[in-house]
Amino acid sequence: MTSTPQHFLTLLDLEPEVCQQIIRRAIELKKMHRDGITHTPMLHKSLAMIFEKSSTRTRVSFESGMTRMGGHALFLSTNDTQLGRGEPISDSARVISSMCDIVMIRTFAQKTVEEFAEYSSVPVINALTDVYHPCQLLADMQTWLEYRGDMQGKTASWVGDGNNMCHSYINAAIQFDFNLNIACPEGYDPNPDIVAHAGDRIKVYRSPAQAISKSDLVVTDVWTSMGQEEEQQARLKAFKGYCINDELMSQANEDALFMHCLPAHRDEEVTASVLEGPKSVVWDEAENRLHAQNALMEYLVSLA
Ligand code: CP
Ligand code: NVA
Repeated sequence: MTSTPQHFLTLLDLEPEVCQQIIRRAIELKKMHRDGITHTPMLHKSLAMIFEKSSTRTRVSFESGMTRMGGHALFLSTNDTQLGRGEPISDSARVISSMCDIVMIRTFAQKTVEEFAEYSSVPVINALTDVYHPCQLLADMQTWLEYRGDMQGKTASWVGDGNNMCHSYINAAIQFDFNLNIACPEGYDPNPDIVAHAGDRIKVYRSPAQAISKSDLVVTDVWTSMGQEEEQQARLKAFKGYCINDELMSQANEDALFMHCLPAHRDEEVTASVLEGPKSVVWDEAENRLHAQNALMEYLVSLA
């Protein structure tokens, strides 16, 4: 490849129309699979999957998704590759991208995926950093669309930590044109630059009930993300009162949905009754990781 590849390091890397196109294509790919239609746009293509953090959904969805599309996925843990022994990212990127058709990275710093992308000759996908988790948002938006139709003008509420998922929800609010109410305890707000970029569609509250009121979608995530384990006790204290329970859910609109990217901690950020309750769509949301990412990979590789 001679031109610069299209990467997916944040949701804002793609035009809003392309984000829409990908989630709609994901729904088609899901149906095609259910109908037994074989679709192999990745035949003889390889995806390198670099993991510096743990994963269940991301690894299984990308690996299984590549197989379903006729390709192959390589699981590369930093413990077992030279990346973990200090080989520069720029060197690793040039080598890995010379042998694979697409790369997925889960790591700590956003700068790491940016640097990898700078030196990669093939598309690079951010599969979670400390700052963003854009693949999860494609799956969440696909799920919202499947259940309730177009999200334009609707209201979602984010309750909990102003973390990587929260930042990607802010970007999703821009790309899919919905309002987002955020409730975080003091000291755990999302990055103010990311909030400011989204303009007045974002409102930040301290009260979960206020944020949730009149929303069409309620979302939360763990209070302690990967890499923050030492802060767990302090976070348990700070987030008291931010658990999504049936009473809080009842503040949302009658037909509101509940989402969580998983893994979930029952009776910390969400009660078991909400997670397993009738408004929760978390299992479809998890499955949709596979379909949304297949649509994303199909799009990125089609440009190459
Ligand atoms: N939601 C999500 O990314 O899950 P994993 O950490 O299991 O990949
Ligand atoms: N915020 C969580 C998301 C896990 C999928 C974390 O970064 O650990």
